[in-house]
Amino acid sequence: MPEIRRPDDMVRITTPELANAFIDEQVKLIQEQVGDKKVLLALSGGVDSSVVAALLIKAIGDQLVSVHVNHGLLRKGEPEQVIEVFRNQMKANLIYVDATDRFLDLLAGVTDPEQKRHIIGEEFINVFAEEARKLDGIEFLAQGTIWPDILESEAGIKAHHNAGGLPEDLQFELVEPVRILFKDEVRVVGEQLGLPAGMVYRQPFPGPGLGVRCPGAITRDRLEAVRESDAILREEFAKNGLEGKVWQYFTVVPDFKSTGITDGKRTFEWPCIIRAINTTDVVEVTVEHLPPELIDHLAQRITTEVEGINRVLYDFTPKPPATVEYE
Ligand code: XMP
Repeated sequence: MPEIRRPDDMVRITTPELANAFIDEQVKLIQEQVGDKKVLLALSGGVDSSVVAALLIKAIGDQLVSVHVNHGLLRKGEPEQVIEVFRNQMKANLIYVDATDRFLDLLAGVTDPEQKRHIIGEEFINVFAEEARKLDGIEFLAQGTIWPDILESEAGIKAHHNAGGLPEDLQFELVEPVRILFKDEVRVVGEQLGLPAGMVYRQPFPGPGLGVRCPGAITRDRLEAVRESDAILREEFAKNGLEGKVWQYFTVVPDFKSTGITDGKRTFEWPCIIRAINTTDVVEVTVEHLPPELIDHLAQRITTEVEGINRVLYDFTPKPPATVEYE
């Protein structure tokens, strides 16, 4: 098949009308490409794969088989939201795999950041491939490739995550219905497809998930402290009108403890670091300065509500010299 490219004169999709026209066109194209065959999709719950899922459900219904792999490093409520939106509301043919133990067992004791990323990426493919092999008659693999992915891979900046690195015995024809869209267009299309705003306009989240926010060897208790503190931070950002205004915000729980005091008793617990940043291109980022009252409130909530935390710190470092994530 010839490579589909974004026409130079394509109008940016910014309105419901333009999004609907795009959706109608893609539904026809998907139906023509797929016919009565089955399509497989790794549904992470991120913007791009979610919009692809919604488009394919509209076009081919239960000929789409979506697999949601929970690697145990997702944010609080994420797997539940994927199940609620896709299985319960959109009636998707959704396979949910809770692979938490597999991932955390493999990661136990692993301290090197690159090795952690490698294990998470490789095991993700293993789990997905195992599910794919259980299915009959799949001929297509859908992917949430978007136009910047193509441009970046052509410019040699990053390899296009083509076909997700699946093993030799699992080679499918690709279905990439949002490949000519920019991210903002994907969001508008997603909204028109009925996806919740919280899913379509959410902040970026790395593939290795909370694993890179639990520096060093991941333990279940420290990972839980990351997840709970992240949930509090997101709740407070939403309440204070910062959701959608700040590019990315999250918490990190490093692997060291310090002395504290609670109810007159000594504690020896982890700190929780808050990071909130703004950027346009993620190459350079600036720090978002939060109102002092919000910082105080976050420190108070996180130290009282999150097990194992006795201090809250704020990361004032731009990129460069720091990166956004800690690993
Ligand atoms: P860094 O830490 O490199 O992050 O400054 C830049 C942006 O990329 C996100 N990020 C990732 N996204 N897979 C992803 O899909 C990854 O492995 C990954 N690592 C970092 C990070 O959250 C930030 O938005």
